[in-house]
Amino acid sequence: MASDPQNRAPAVRALEPPLASGAGAARGPLTAQAGQLVLLLTEKGKRYLLRLQPGTRFHTHLGVIAHDDLIGQPLGTTVFSAKGHPLLLLEPSLPDLMKRIKRTTQIIYPKDAARIVQLLNLRAGRRVIEAGTGSGGLTIALAWAVAPQGRVYSYEARPEHQRVARANLERAGLLDHVELVERAIQEGFLQTGVDALVLDVRTPWQYLEQVRQALRPGGFFASLVPTTNQVSQLLASLEQHGFADIRVEEILLRRYKPVPDRLRPEDTMIGHTGFIIAARPVVDPEETTRWLAEERKRFLARQEQTSRVDAPDTATETQDLHSPDTTVDT
Ligand SMILES: C[S@@+](CC[C@H](N)C(=O)[O-])C[C@H]1O[C@@H](n2cnc3c(N)ncnc32)[C@H](O)[C@@H]1O
Repeated sequence: MASDPQNRAPAVRALEPPLASGAGAARGPLTAQAGQLVLLLTEKGKRYLLRLQPGTRFHTHLGVIAHDDLIGQPLGTTVFSAKGHPLLLLEPSLPDLMKRIKRTTQIIYPKDAARIVQLLNLRAGRRVIEAGTGSGGLTIALAWAVAPQGRVYSYEARPEHQRVARANLERAGLLDHVELVERAIQEGFLQTGVDALVLDVRTPWQYLEQVRQALRPGGFFASLVPTTNQVSQLLASLEQHGFADIRVEEILLRRYKPVPDRLRPEDTMIGHTGFIIAARPVVDPEETTRWLAEERKRFLARQEQTSRVDAPDTATETQDLHSPDTTVDT
């Protein structure tokens, strides 16, 4: 059994008396359960995710911990490795699940995924399509939001990415809520009438016809792209394909050093991840112009006015050039 080097305490030590498990089952377990995914936090802030399995041991540079010593402990307990290093036993958060996946692609950051979940209006029971699956980072957030009765249909053209995403989702315990579809989305989506659809592909503007066919009337659409020129292309295409209530957003997250007497932001932050674009399909695409943003309508009106002013009065000019009275300065 591992011990605290100072006072020979047992390997796993509850700082508080264990809470009764089961009572708050609907709100999540109070104690670490066999089969549960837990987080071990080190004093230096390193975070380890593990699924508790009786008879298994977890190895780190800080020493070994037997899963059996964790099972039954209240979440929030300090436990000790065989080398006597303390670790905090916690329930992992959604960002923990998203950030600790194996990556074969760039993944959507938790801050952006959270906003996408809001803009897609996701909640338990909803059906949502996403493309591409990539490493399954966003898929985890979507599945988390629509579980247990809802469903995520996740499209990916490349099987090697899909394989990694499947393993990531399985590890996060969310695969049951996801249908992974290996298919290029230019072929169209296999579902119709879904509540929401999100595209994380390089050229989302090319697939809006397919998006309209899959979404239910008035459904929720979102996309994330990294550059402003991609945003402009998507905006133009959304207007052409009958989408309204269009918005473009960027989420900036600034963390603070949690020192009450010297509270200040962290020295570095992630400067840029991507732009989120959201829109709603209108039933009659002919109606789209009516629902353009005020700013957009003003711009179009100004453009039309300018083109009228700039347009040459061809009739007059023709007459001037060919009139016998025209004086040509030679
Ligand atoms: C940036 S990654 C998605 C990352 C993912 N959102 C995540 O958080 O892990 C883009 C993925 O879209 C896939 N993809 C690109 N074009 C596609 C298409 N036309 N049909 C299906 N998948 C596509 C790529 O293979 C790639 O895996």
